[in-house]
Amino acid sequence: MANEVITGMLPGMPRRIPHGIETERLNLRCPRVEDGPELHDALVESVQRLSSWFAWTAGAEVKPEQSTASAQFARWRFLAGRELQFFIFRKGSPRLLGVAGLCNPDWSRRYFEISYWLRTGCEGYGYATEAVAALTDFAFRRLAARRLEIRCDPDNKPAAALPQRLGYRLEQILPRARRNHDSGQWRDVAVFVKVKNVTAAEAHGSVDDFSPLVR
Ligand SMILES: CC(C)(COP(=O)(O)OP(=O)(O)OC[C@H]1O[C@@H](n2cnc3c(N)ncnc32)[C@H](O)[C@@H]1OP(=O)(O)O)[C@@H](O)C(=O)NCCC(=O)NCCS
Repeated sequence: MANEVITGMLPGMPRRIPHGIETERLNLRCPRVEDGPELHDALVESVQRLSSWFAWTAGAEVKPEQSTASAQFARWRFLAGRELQFFIFRKGSPRLLGVAGLCNPDWSRRYFEISYWLRTGCEGYGYATEAVAALTDFAFRRLAARRLEIRCDPDNKPAAALPQRLGYRLEQILPRARRNHDSGQWRDVAVFVKVKNVTAAEAHGSVDDFSPLVR
């Protein structure tokens, strides 16, 4: 189907996955190699802020060819079911607002982590909340997720506010579970959770019968 990508390389993974999600203001979609320049602009603008929270940006010198390779790699990982990163765009605009994704998927147990970042200057409009709300719904309804986690530093106030805004429950704080790449300090990790109790029929039913999502 036009709105789906063919996957199914990992045990327990659906054979087809919608590659786009539409919300009131946003389009979320599977990365493409031609997104490289937009990703590059967003990273140049945001890398300093992101490096406090993400290992992959710490000390990184952002180069155009690396950004293009990252977009391509993100697409490959999406198709392979290793990580479903969605690039976020405001409807009608080619400007990349940020990224929200389903990471560390365990397709057999239907477990996913959600992570997100916004380009500097795009905070404070509710875009991340809108994107993560849509991803949460997507994971439960389209991927038959049973457990979703959002992990962040408890001192990262905007990041920790988001799951609480969406009704995720703070399940635990993992003491000194992450090392800050800038300072070298060991930091706590807050684990926010949403679970769905599935019926036996749902648990054994097919999740392949997706109706396509609008791009
Ligand atoms: C985490 C991060 C995405 C949060 O950004 P954010 O802009 O605060 O989040 P949202 O886009 O959901 O916006 C929420 C804010 O917009 C406001 N807002 C404005 N219009 C809104 C709308 N229509 N709907 C919802 N909120 C709206 C909210 O009141 C809130 O502001 P407040 O915190 O002052 O109350 C951003 O800080 C970031 O990229 N951080 C670096 C990466 C990171 O730490 N990621 C987390 C690790 S998983």
